[in-house]
Amino acid sequence: MDYAHLQGGNVSMVLHVAPGHVPRFIYWGARLTDDADLAALDKLGQRSGVDGGPDIALPCSLAMESGLGLFAPPMLSAHRNGRDSLQLFLTEKSEIAAQSITIACRDVVREMMLIHDIALDAETGIMSASSTLINQGQGALMLDAMASLCLPVSAGMQDIIGFHGRWAQEFQMRRFARPPGSWLSENMTGRTSHSHFPGVILCEGTCNDQQGRAYGVHLGWSGNHSLRVDSLADGRVQIAGSAKLLAGEINLAAEERYQTPTVYAGFSDQGLSRLSQNFQTYVQANILPRRFADTPRPVHYNCWEAIYFHHDIDVLKALASKAAAVGVERFVLDDGWFGARRNDRAGLGDWHVSRDIYPDGLHPLIAHIKALGMEMGLWFEPEMVNPDSDLYRTHPDWVLGLQGAEQIPFRSQYVLDISRKEVSDYLFGQMDALLREYPIDYIKWDMNRDISHPVNAQGRAAGNAYVTALYALIDRVRAAHPNVEIESCSSGGGRIDYGILQRTDRVWTSDSNDALDRQIIQRGASHWLPLRISGSHIGPRICKITQREIPMAMRAASAIFGHMGLELDLLSEPQEQLDELARAIALYKAHRGLIHGGDFYRLAERADGNDVMIVAADKNNALLSIAQLHSASNTLPMPLRLTGLDPIKIYRLSVIWPDEIKDRHTQHYAQQLEALSNKGVTGAMLMQHGLQPAQMQPGTALILHLQIAG
Ligand code: DGJ
Repeated sequence: MDYAHLQGGNVSMVLHVAPGHVPRFIYWGARLTDDADLAALDKLGQRSGVDGGPDIALPCSLAMESGLGLFAPPMLSAHRNGRDSLQLFLTEKSEIAAQSITIACRDVVREMMLIHDIALDAETGIMSASSTLINQGQGALMLDAMASLCLPVSAGMQDIIGFHGRWAQEFQMRRFARPPGSWLSENMTGRTSHSHFPGVILCEGTCNDQQGRAYGVHLGWSGNHSLRVDSLADGRVQIAGSAKLLAGEINLAAEERYQTPTVYAGFSDQGLSRLSQNFQTYVQANILPRRFADTPRPVHYNCWEAIYFHHDIDVLKALASKAAAVGVERFVLDDGWFGARRNDRAGLGDWHVSRDIYPDGLHPLIAHIKALGMEMGLWFEPEMVNPDSDLYRTHPDWVLGLQGAEQIPFRSQYVLDISRKEVSDYLFGQMDALLREYPIDYIKWDMNRDISHPVNAQGRAAGNAYVTALYALIDRVRAAHPNVEIESCSSGGGRIDYGILQRTDRVWTSDSNDALDRQIIQRGASHWLPLRISGSHIGPRICKITQREIPMAMRAASAIFGHMGLELDLLSEPQEQLDELARAIALYKAHRGLIHGGDFYRLAERADGNDVMIVAADKNNALLSIAQLHSASNTLPMPLRLTGLDPIKIYRLSVIWPDEIKDRHTQHYAQQLEALSNKGVTGAMLMQHGLQPAQMQPGTALILHLQIAG
């Protein structure tokens, strides 16, 4: 068989896999018919020799190896002590199943084998792929770089959307014209990073959330990575994602192999919202651990911003009582409960309950929490150690570091070399003992620094080994405690990717609880993540990070569109604020089935606000959130053209949040909608004409419920 045609969702992928030739994509885009003539398709794209270039057309392969003779950056770099450094892999055989293909290729001369495993999800058309390099020769093979797969994008993708940021400002989108040459996003922080989320979108210049063609590529890897878009001089455009290897990290002896992390790729010809829906659905069905993927997401209370390191059992019990009273379902005890951890300069590594504060261990507090009907969550930061800790005093050699260079402390902590068996055994033992002793339902697994010197005691780079060891440690904890949920936190959103999501159930999207910033962070994150896993908390009235004062109604309106939680000092909140909190939580509970199960749409982007919708699968029900983040540029905003509704169904609209409207314009607006709802309006009218929002103050939001009439 010379060709393979994979189909899934609205997507087709066609590959040329004839033995003796370089394997190559001939098509990736909108779904073709089952009987598409693949040879004809191949001919359509046939390229010729060119003046000033090679006389014959050269293929782009799945590995973009250096022996292709192409004038493109090679995506595979390996050698045997300087020899065999250019390779050419020809297909030997391929195995094609309904939704997947395995292509085995060989470079006979250089004695290497390359296997590509590609699958296309039947429902969403999301591709997942990884490649494996095997050393079949005698001399050690040193691997410096290798992409998980190189993907072509079709002509006309003029724009690149990158996802960048910093601590407390994750998932900031930047859209720009695809430059000639290469666009490169590299992360060397040792974790997924706040600054370079490993995802990129290529789209038509006219593509927006509602229309147009777009490709999205994500690397599921929680360490150093490289993501690049190469615009070749001959007009072709390639995307590749790789785990970024450090010199000497991967050294393959005879018959040893290296398997890349998985790269995920999606296509939509119905705009960016559809692309995100595909990724969100895929993550929920195929990436997240099954155990909790469909269970209702409980409302969290996290004590961090209420008490920081000032743990006091009576205060915590009082907080738990207040939390339960407003409707919280899970109480998370954050940093500060263990060892000598009275501030962030000591105690990390000593995972035993601090007897100074908890003389009877955590039992009395947990009993109180459970008696209130809540689940119990506990914070850990297993991979780290403070120099001021018993662990470090006993095992100063357990940390990563570069001989001859001073340790660079981040938040007064160093990184443990978890790839050492005794280190990971110690950490597993400590966590396992606590999880056995206490009825803990949830772990917040934190990681609060970049890895500046990923070097082990033997002087070898260990960035790759670190991530592999981390995955093994989490897997081990999960296997021993399958009923414990795990959150991936890394100073907020520093470790969010599909690699970590294969073994965790929630992410802490950002340390910023500033609702205005959160609207933008969550809008960016929604391109890749389901709302049900994106932790989103109501913080204090004055945000601890930005010092911005934001009313409860706005904080709640932002937190509802995620996995909702609270993170404020409930003991100092006046009763009317607690009442409002309770009503917000009740609203979340009433609608969480829709929020986490419906189709999510971003409405047209605007500079002064953020508008999103969630529509139920049967289109009988929808939520619309209109957030005015900054002062509006017009006296009245432009009508919002809704999306995703059934054009012929008749909808009633009502403002469901804030439930007590104080502003007179909004009051009037809500009344108008109420009046309109007697008869209702068609989905077509809402999608074609649009809905005129009221004048809104900066820093406010409205949530509307749309329900079919009758
Ligand atoms: C960073 C996290 O993002 C916070 O939520 C909190 O858990 C602190 N670490 C605790 O040290």
